[in-house]
Amino acid sequence: MIPIARPQMGEEEKQRVLEAMASGSLAQGPRVREFEEQFAAFVGAGHAVATSSGTTALHLALLGHGIGAGDEVITVPFTFIASANSVLYTGARPVFVDIAEEDFCIDPALIEAAITDRTRAIMPVSLYGQPADMEAITEIADRRGLAVVEDAAQAHGAGIGDRRSGTWGIGAFSFYPTKNMTTGEGGMLTTDDGELAERVRLLREHGMKVRYHHDVVGYNFRMTDIAASIGLAQLPKLPAKNERRRAIAARYDVELRGVFTPQVRTGATHVYHQYTLRVHERDAFAEALRDRGVGSAIYYPIPVHRQKPFLALGYGSESLPVTERFTAQVLSIPVHPSLSDDEVSAVVEAVNATAAKLGPMEAAAVAS
Ligand SMILES: Cc1ncc(COP(=O)(O)O)c(C=O)c1O
Repeated sequence: MIPIARPQMGEEEKQRVLEAMASGSLAQGPRVREFEEQFAAFVGAGHAVATSSGTTALHLALLGHGIGAGDEVITVPFTFIASANSVLYTGARPVFVDIAEEDFCIDPALIEAAITDRTRAIMPVSLYGQPADMEAITEIADRRGLAVVEDAAQAHGAGIGDRRSGTWGIGAFSFYPTKNMTTGEGGMLTTDDGELAERVRLLREHGMKVRYHHDVVGYNFRMTDIAASIGLAQLPKLPAKNERRRAIAARYDVELRGVFTPQVRTGATHVYHQYTLRVHERDAFAEALRDRGVGSAIYYPIPVHRQKPFLALGYGSESLPVTERFTAQVLSIPVHPSLSDDEVSAVVEAVNATAAKLGPMEAAAVAS
């Protein structure tokens, strides 16, 4: 079976982890600081703050802006639940805006109508490895006095023009094992705002600058030096791995038939955390791929506003038509950098044969 993800750990990672273990510095230490410096330089942001996960990076980003009870944060329902959960953790309320057909990310044309006098921030999600339309979003946020928190959990190395994800407002990245780079578990927050970075560092470690002197109620959202040492080994490999993902995606773009392939906005660099199709008769499609030895996955089978905890909070009746339609159609196929050319060919053959058997997406989309 060609799996949907295949995390890669090399000798370099093993060596660095052993060094960290031998150093005796296991919690947040010099390797975390080095990883922060290297990640900030990679992204092109003034500051980077390592965290225990992408979720805690998002949570800290909102706390760093002082967002809490009574506030609203505009985000999308077409994402992993952590985006919206991070808003709930602060006591604020996520307000869901639909995605654009073009890029699976927040539709900037719908944002202004969702702004109220409680809105404090916009949290676009750079889904599947394509940056949301950060320029249009930042223009609205600046004009309306709102913070921008980019959920860049899936967008390491993505960008628009010569600017990378994580350089508009705050960026929050995840290093979960299936991401384009990993630390096992881990996250990173990036910003050009030095004061914000300081606040976030304080909150990450129990409000403590001087040992056992606590200025505010904080958290333990630290990354370990063991995780950072994996990150230090993974980061230099990221550009080549992203290029391999992009090369595989380029083949799919040209060779796949009878399915909707993802679009890339002009000027955007997509790093294909996922290569996500829209298909006709998705369950049968996924089963047929499995029969031909090709794994696939649905990101995500239920939009956030219809997940149980959100229904309990009164969500669920919003009109989010693109999200609803795409939720029933999306299917991601393997695009990870360790795929061989033969495996890519096998995926192409399986997808094309299945689409031919079940009927092409074009006809189905017109009917739906
Ligand atoms: C879009 C998105 N946001 C947030 C997260 C949360 O990251 P983590 O799993 O590292 O907490 C993830 C990843 O799992 C994600 O894909």
